[in-house]
Amino acid sequence: MSERSVRVRVPATSANLGPGFDALGIACTLYNEMTLTLTHEPGLHISARGEGAAYIPGDERNIVWKSIQYLLERAGRVDEFQGARIRMSNRIPLSRGLGSSATAIVAGLTAANALVDSPFSRDDLLQLATDIEGHPDNVAPAIYGGFTVNTVTDGHVECFSFLPRIFLRLVVMVPDFYLSTKSARQVLPSEVPMKDAVFNISHAAMMVAALARGSEKHLENAFADALHQNYRAPLIPGMFDVFAAAKRAGAYGAALSGAGPCLIAFVPEHRKCTEEVAAAMQEAFRAYEIEARPLHLRLDTKGARVLRRRDMNAKR
Ligand code: HSE
Repeated sequence: MSERSVRVRVPATSANLGPGFDALGIACTLYNEMTLTLTHEPGLHISARGEGAAYIPGDERNIVWKSIQYLLERAGRVDEFQGARIRMSNRIPLSRGLGSSATAIVAGLTAANALVDSPFSRDDLLQLATDIEGHPDNVAPAIYGGFTVNTVTDGHVECFSFLPRIFLRLVVMVPDFYLSTKSARQVLPSEVPMKDAVFNISHAAMMVAALARGSEKHLENAFADALHQNYRAPLIPGMFDVFAAAKRAGAYGAALSGAGPCLIAFVPEHRKCTEEVAAAMQEAFRAYEIEARPLHLRLDTKGARVLRRRDMNAKR
């Protein structure tokens, strides 16, 4: 009896981009790869190397495995496979605001979908991934790539993905501590003043318009936010000083990446100042006795991809 194997690659993501809380996201040129083999014999074998490998569960609690099971159930194919071998090769830091859990979910769904002859479209996968993750702003760019805008209407998720007409370099500062999304969401209020909601709607809309039409001058204030960063600032010492340092060094602006603790600066490619921006952000963090390392990234344009699929004889 044959068994099937597939290798997938999924980009890191940065959600929110300041004002687009739970709505905007980008895919970045930093990737996790995963090989999935579905077997007819029972047994789950999970191995991981790279970022956070020691913290990744090697049993049924593993989020990649749960996502695979979820897809197979939805496809009505769960009884065909008794077990799996999952090999993960991770470059995306864990629990730092770069969408590592979204990447795991999207990797599991994309790989399982490919192995059962792709009954689900990308839009379907977005819905399934959002069901698992709870909000779409990381899973959407991980699936589609580019800059993503998403909405949830009566539980139905939609995503618009586009490539900005401004070439952006991304400087991500990874501080030497972890922050769970759960604790970063717990500090948020359940209600916000109308003026803060209006502030964010206008800034998020301005960002999308400026990037879609290529208007640099409209980006200068577009990364400002009133809905979540102020409440989260105590969890990331020096955050606003690091933003200010990035801007002084030449970035359009900076934001908390997802729920943090990574901070991300958006730098115009033509200014050629990413090294200066990284150094300024690092120094600003140091004033708060926080060591942070920079990642120099760009926008990923493709999203999750199947790299190769193989049908193999089980005896080999
Ligand atoms: N939009 C989410 C948040 C992203 O800010 O909590 C975290 O995954």
